Amino acid sequence: MGIFFSCKAANPPYTVKHLGDGQSIVQVDQPKKYMLLPIEETSGESRLFVIVDNDVVQTLHVRLAVTKTDYYVPLDLSAYSDKHVALNFHHIADDALCWTELKLSDEFDTSNRETFRPAYHFSPLYGWMNDPNGMVYKDGEYHLFYQHNPYGSMWGNMHWGHAISRDLINWEHLPVAIAPDGLGTIFSGSAVVDKDNTSGFGAGAIVAFYTSAGERQTQSLAYSLDNGRTFKKYERNPILTSTVRDFRDPKVFWHEQTGKWILILAAGQEMQIYSSANLKDWTMESRFGEGHGAHGGVWECPDLIELPIEGTELKKWVLICNLNPGGPFGGSATQYFVGTFDGKTFVNESPTATKWMDWGRDHYATVTWSNAPDNRSIAIAWMSNWDYANDVPTQQFRAANSIPRDLSLYTYNGETYLKSSPSPEMLALRGKAQKKGSFKVDRTYNLDKVLADNTGTYEIEMEITNRDAEIIGFQLFNTKGEEIDCYYNLAEGKFFMDRTKSGIVSFSDKFPSITAAPIEKGKNFKLRLFIDKASVEAFGEDGRFAMTNLVFPTEPYNRISFYAKGGTYNVTSLVVYSLIQ
Ligand code: FRU
Repeated sequence: MGIFFSCKAANPPYTVKHLGDGQSIVQVDQPKKYMLLPIEETSGESRLFVIVDNDVVQTLHVRLAVTKTDYYVPLDLSAYSDKHVALNFHHIADDALCWTELKLSDEFDTSNRETFRPAYHFSPLYGWMNDPNGMVYKDGEYHLFYQHNPYGSMWGNMHWGHAISRDLINWEHLPVAIAPDGLGTIFSGSAVVDKDNTSGFGAGAIVAFYTSAGERQTQSLAYSLDNGRTFKKYERNPILTSTVRDFRDPKVFWHEQTGKWILILAAGQEMQIYSSANLKDWTMESRFGEGHGAHGGVWECPDLIELPIEGTELKKWVLICNLNPGGPFGGSATQYFVGTFDGKTFVNESPTATKWMDWGRDHYATVTWSNAPDNRSIAIAWMSNWDYANDVPTQQFRAANSIPRDLSLYTYNGETYLKSSPSPEMLALRGKAQKKGSFKVDRTYNLDKVLADNTGTYEIEMEITNRDAEIIGFQLFNTKGEEIDCYYNLAEGKFFMDRTKSGIVSFSDKFPSITAAPIEKGKNFKLRLFIDKASVEAFGEDGRFAMTNLVFPTEPYNRISFYAKGGTYNVTSLVVYSLIQ
């Protein structure tokens, strides 16, 4: 951290004037790179107008410290170093703590201070994150944009944050890519590479589509001619409007067969499909949704992709539909439909089936990378749930993404399902294999040490052959008595994960939960578990089921206790890898 001045200093770099009625103006007399704003998460939102040489250049909402400072967020003033900056605050009392806690500084400290900061999952440097946005691959770089509040660790002030990676694992944080404007804040969307310059913005432009969230929701675009480092908003935004209130999250892709761009977006409880030749002018083609799948809440963040069916030469189309609330265990979740798409209409081949992509509580806003190499469909999800996303016990940052997953299709009992396999890049994180042998479980079998130096970031791979057990279970636990209980219930044909005693759970009464995924009939089971500081992702049979759950243990889980009920089973292989970056 740099050296700070406050208005108590002899030569105050700013002056605070209270105007009555909850309004105050702060005149910045000696600008520095940042004005650091003190945040108290339980405070109400104040409104801040950033005024440069008498003009409002930015408005935002901020939960200013009234009685205590939880953390700071930086307001970047570097563009105005030779101008006069005044900050006009509304809805904040004259005696609030913030007036003596504001700081001007040339630095903002983003070093990791938190127990629950994941080691190998993407999380924002600071501030709030929700949906992954605009994922696109170009020239060796995976771009990940995301719903971001740079002015607090709770939802608000939506910007597109930005990071890039060459391997889907190591991420470099880049400055905010798209910031709110007169049309609204910047909600979710997608990006494509316009290889043939159909838009006229330039061959190879990255064109991003997002929802401008003002009083009403409209769709806008911005483009980048420097591989995503800077974006220019299209001057004729918005490009798509509607009278529907929830009208958002455009996903755009190139449809080879018809030679057109397709845009799919969520409108209330349906998806609408549009086509275009130039990415700017869109024609409505069809709508999909009524009478299909789960409708417990609004439909959001769609995707439409063609995927190969394993073991065949066939492909089918998959419509990914995120839904909030109305997930199988409450709150937000990702459902999908399998069928055909002819460039105009998506036809669901199983109109009576509801299919879930992940059976945990914390897998939402899932979409895939555009233009991924080798025809891969790589998905990533926001690893949280709107039921409690704002309340999880972190402060400097809030939320992480799932690990990347490669998608494909498989057929079981005549139905086609989505398979979400951990992307092969995850293998590179593995440390040395620690083989724990093979053993029979008739009552219990304990493993006292998962890893010698356990930092709480590891993968467990196990293979199980059932003999005659009714329940095949194991608890992962620590010395504090915190545990995750996982078990296959063969009679019910389900795999369960119980996090009710997993650590810190009391921040929301919706957090403690038991989730269940259907399993296929058989005697042999293969399970991969990815454990990070605050999450468990389970993949059964290479991704034929996936289950993603947050957990907040106060110490790493470092023991495993296998148990059997109603019979016995064999663990034929158990391997632990520490996952290192
Ligand atoms: C989904 C969502 C989107 C919206 C964004 C706003 O989590 O509600 O529909 O664009 O979040 O942050």
